[in-house]
Amino acid sequence: MKEQVTKLQEEFTNRSSEELLRSFLERFGNRIALASSLGAEDQVLTDIILKMAPQARIFILDTGRLPQETYAVITENMKHYQRCFEIYLPDTAALESLISQKGPDLFYESVANRKQCCKVRKIEPLQRVLKTVDVWITGLRREQAVTRTGIQPIEWDESNNLLKLNPLADWSVAEVWRYIRANQVPYNRLHDQNYPSIGCAPCTREVAPGEDLRAGRWWWEAPEHKECGLHYRDGKIVQRSAT
Ligand code: ADX
Ligand code: SF4
Repeated sequence: MKEQVTKLQEEFTNRSSEELLRSFLERFGNRIALASSLGAEDQVLTDIILKMAPQARIFILDTGRLPQETYAVITENMKHYQRCFEIYLPDTAALESLISQKGPDLFYESVANRKQCCKVRKIEPLQRVLKTVDVWITGLRREQAVTRTGIQPIEWDESNNLLKLNPLADWSVAEVWRYIRANQVPYNRLHDQNYPSIGCAPCTREVAPGEDLRAGRWWWEAPEHKECGLHYRDGKIVQRSAT
């Protein structure tokens, strides 16, 4: 599969997000799944995908610390799309051990603690799900962060050893919201309160006008640290090289 990435990238150059998704959903069936954080981008993808393939797999990593507004989107989605979503929780023993030793709010104390928390609450559950697919789909966009400028619509995910689709890689935030409004897609109400990027409640705050889209995520850390590990490549931040 890895060897086919360049060919696939060429094949899908200048093809729309819809065309990309339709082709991969048809080809991979139950071995492809959308990772949804319930954020605006993932809600767009959920809507596009379920209109094409109502049985498509969509999974959510419930860290146990998501904001209530995010849980409300899960309930709303279930009603709106009349279906279930795959929800994965952290391993109980690993979580009990972590918070027994370091306390529930360990993430504020150091980048290392924060990464450890993300590992137990997000990365390990993600790795469990990814064992069941050949391709995963994400809502990553290039514009989102300095850590994301190198994103391609089709990539080889080296750390997880599988194909990764980022169908919205080229979309602007305005395009995302145009789609949501035009299609009356359910969305997280925190987006109306200056939360452009939403993760766990204790690690997300609102942003001030003009601030970076991800300024409210792990706001106490430097921008180059602001990835939880879901989207690292070989443990490295993914950046487009200067040309
Ligand atoms: S994060 O790495 O900083 O948490 P971000 O919130 O920007 O990521 O989301 C980027 C993409 O990662 C989402 O579009 C989604 O595909 C995936 N993702 C993030 N959080 C989750 C989650 N809790 N469950 C499933 N997928 C997620
Ligand atoms: Fe833990 Fe915060 Fe990472 Fe959520 S975002 S898993 S609470 S460190």
